[in-house]
Amino acid sequence: MLGEKVTISVIKADIGSLAGHHVTHPDTLAAAAKVLSEAKRKGILIDFYVTHAGDDLELIMTHRRGVDDPEIHGTAWNAFKEATKVAKELGLYASGQDLLSEAFSGNVRGMGPGVAEMEIEERPSEPIVVFMADKTEPGAFNLPLFKIFADPFNTAGLIIDPRMHEGFKFQVLDVYEGKSVTLSCPEEMYDLLALIGTTGRYVIKRVFRKSDELQAAVVSTERLNLIAGKYVGKDDPVAILRAQHGLPALGEILEAFAFPHMVAGWMRGSHYGPLMPVPEKYSKCTRFDGPPRIVGLGFQVKNGRLVGPADLFDDVAFDETRRLAQIVAEYIRRHGPFMPHRLGPEEMEYTTLPQVLEKLRDRFVEVKVATKAIIRRSEMLSGEERVD
Ligand code: F6R
Ligand code: MG
Ligand code: MG
Repeated sequence: MLGEKVTISVIKADIGSLAGHHVTHPDTLAAAAKVLSEAKRKGILIDFYVTHAGDDLELIMTHRRGVDDPEIHGTAWNAFKEATKVAKELGLYASGQDLLSEAFSGNVRGMGPGVAEMEIEERPSEPIVVFMADKTEPGAFNLPLFKIFADPFNTAGLIIDPRMHEGFKFQVLDVYEGKSVTLSCPEEMYDLLALIGTTGRYVIKRVFRKSDELQAAVVSTERLNLIAGKYVGKDDPVAILRAQHGLPALGEILEAFAFPHMVAGWMRGSHYGPLMPVPEKYSKCTRFDGPPRIVGLGFQVKNGRLVGPADLFDDVAFDETRRLAQIVAEYIRRHGPFMPHRLGPEEMEYTTLPQVLEKLRDRFVEVKVATKAIIRRSEMLSGEERVD
């Protein structure tokens, strides 16, 4: 029997950090919590939990107002504004960074903060996991979500549990075109992989159980650089997943993070590095502003109340993953400014590198070459396309 509808909203923003871009200041979290606690007192929120992942302030909220609700988004916006005031008072670094607009107009989407929201019919026992990553982008969730919901080598339940055996559907967003396509697994697995392997463009937004359309996951897919049209930091993403009882078990969800896969982000949002799962206490991006990190908090949702959290990567079982991540970090760091450590030219167009290259533009002179490649390529990383 399913219970009442409840919405889980995770809204996050980087509004300033202590000593660079590595960790939030506790006073900014306190300022945000004050705003949310007032909203709870007024009955706008049922419950909330304020935390951080690296330099990102994370608001985890429950309510009965559905997704994209102006009151909820307004509350989050006020929390970020109040936290920004404190950040400015303390002179924190990059205060107000992700608040791209001055005035709130009913919805934080497109205004800087990242948003993952899911309205669910609460099951008698409703375990959820909130993942929060720092120094990476929404496409970082593509690989683990594929493993969790489509790879039987990760999720035994896809084979063993009849409620999951039909598979899952993935809504994939093209973040450049603003279009989405829904693909069904296992039958369209190769089509799905053909898209989501391009992590900077095709991003898994939602996952549904095929047998009954039950929503199992949602990811924040805002890409700040595309919104702002210039480099304003990476789009450190969040995701909400439901677990157990006909959905992947908690352990199947976490298993996908036992491999520290390479993600785009890290220093200046311009480098590939391993995604390291860490407990809250190690969520600070120090080495080369990284390596990229992910925190996972487990809650039970009961009548909309958030029971918990459990700090899921605070476990020796992930020590070897972290060790491998360190080894991979060490290996790839030795490449310095060379690809494949540094991102490729398409992605670098949304960083500050084009400004550096601009001054070389007029110094290039024609040379006689036997053959000229007939390819479309990006001109000096500036975004202009040229056909030779
Ligand atoms: C990456 C990030 C940092 C900064 C870097 C330079 O998402 O936030 O790696 O890009 O510390 O920061 P600025 O340009 O502010 O000195
Ligand atoms: Mg920052
Ligand atoms: Mg961040």
